[in-house]
Amino acid sequence: MGQNRAVEAQPGGYKTIVYVICMVAALGGLLFGLDQGFIANSLDTLTQHYQFAVHDKESYSAILATGGIFGALLSGIFARFLGRKRSLVLAGLIFTAASAYSAILPPLPILSACRFALGFGVGIASFIVPLYLSETAPAAIRGSMGTLFQLLITIGIFLIALSNVFIARLFTKPATSLPLMFLTVTLFAALMFAGSFILPESPRWLMLKGRKEQAVSVLRKTLNSQQEIDREISEIEEALHGPQGAGVSIIFRGYFFKVLLVGILLQVFQQLVGINMMIYYSPTIFGYAGMKGLLAMMTVPTVNMLFTFPAIHLVEKWGRKKLLYVGAVAMLVTMVASGLAFHAIGSVSDPALIGGAPKMVLLVSAILYIFGFAVSWGPVVWLVCSEIFPLEGREIGMTITTMVNWTFAGLVMANALSFMRTYGNSSIFYVFAGFCVLAIVFVALFVPETKGITLEELEFNLKKGARLKQLGNRN
Ligand code: BGC
Repeated sequence: MGQNRAVEAQPGGYKTIVYVICMVAALGGLLFGLDQGFIANSLDTLTQHYQFAVHDKESYSAILATGGIFGALLSGIFARFLGRKRSLVLAGLIFTAASAYSAILPPLPILSACRFALGFGVGIASFIVPLYLSETAPAAIRGSMGTLFQLLITIGIFLIALSNVFIARLFTKPATSLPLMFLTVTLFAALMFAGSFILPESPRWLMLKGRKEQAVSVLRKTLNSQQEIDREISEIEEALHGPQGAGVSIIFRGYFFKVLLVGILLQVFQQLVGINMMIYYSPTIFGYAGMKGLLAMMTVPTVNMLFTFPAIHLVEKWGRKKLLYVGAVAMLVTMVASGLAFHAIGSVSDPALIGGAPKMVLLVSAILYIFGFAVSWGPVVWLVCSEIFPLEGREIGMTITTMVNWTFAGLVMANALSFMRTYGNSSIFYVFAGFCVLAIVFVALFVPETKGITLEELEFNLKKGARLKQLGNRN
């Protein structure tokens, strides 16, 4: 994505408008979170209004992921031909139209089509926002603006969980509360849509299209001195003379295929450790154990958001692999503990008869599980996937790995509840625990440590044939 140069921090070289630009663009991350987090505390209300069976709950949840796969697939094309800004406007338009139309509570097939469209928007946003931020934010704040994206996803998940809880409590009739829930998303979507018009186009894309004068005038808005502008322009020019976006055939080059597999498997494991069962269905699962109320509805989104903050710092201090180990072990232990708690509950369905101990184990496990994910596999997987690909194949590598993420997210969303119903409530926790074990082995054997090494060095090691685990070793 044009940022594989070691960039030197130039504090004070940019104007404060940059923060406004980055915040507006990062609203795309917030919408990702709002749509991802929408289900958890609206599922009961949706079920009442649309008479959902278990299968409908899963399909309606998972169709977002299907849209995400297509959005991610096409976003590389949008980014290149429409430009970054217009792609963001498009995502904002889709978010606004699909959430507003959902608010009129159309028949289920149309409501599902709207959720597919929202997923399509999320798929575009999950590709374009990090790209736009990395291309537009000045060097000194590029890293922190990049991590803003994951943070906003978790803030979005938290905000919508909270507002859906309150809407459902204040307005008990689904015909009133559901439109309000969708309109909350529409409000933020409209903000992003309107805001995206004021965004400047990415200077790098303008240069790519040969529009140097426009690129300079964008940089004049964000940078303080002519010297800064000249420096940025010559960096972009240099990058444009380097290797450019390769075709799909790059997948078959040995060095690329190796890192592609690492990226794909990281995304597969990020989903198969079960995060979206917790994000989507934790209130439902707590309900199976007789727990209702605020604690059941807000624990997961709150812990998820809070522990993303330390991750941003720890990822540079401890490194990626250590965090992945800590997270996977925490998730392994807590998945086994949750499975045992459901074992203890057995087939008791009367909440009054379920003992306090298994409930406590479930609650503490959920907190530690989400801590384990938020501090590690959540941000680290996206980060490593943006680091390991050589420049000429970065767009294609990130498109494929993003699509894999959505595919496996969809698989979990579409099957978790019926799996529990068919094989017993504890079964799914043991399955996810099994994937945590595989994830630990995979990290130990194949994942490189990418902390403290420039992307050029990584690329150099990769092309000279270094083993995967040694890719991050400095020469
Ligand atoms: C994952 C999403 C998940 C979210 C939770 C992201 O990194 O890709 O699937 O819902 O984290 O915070």
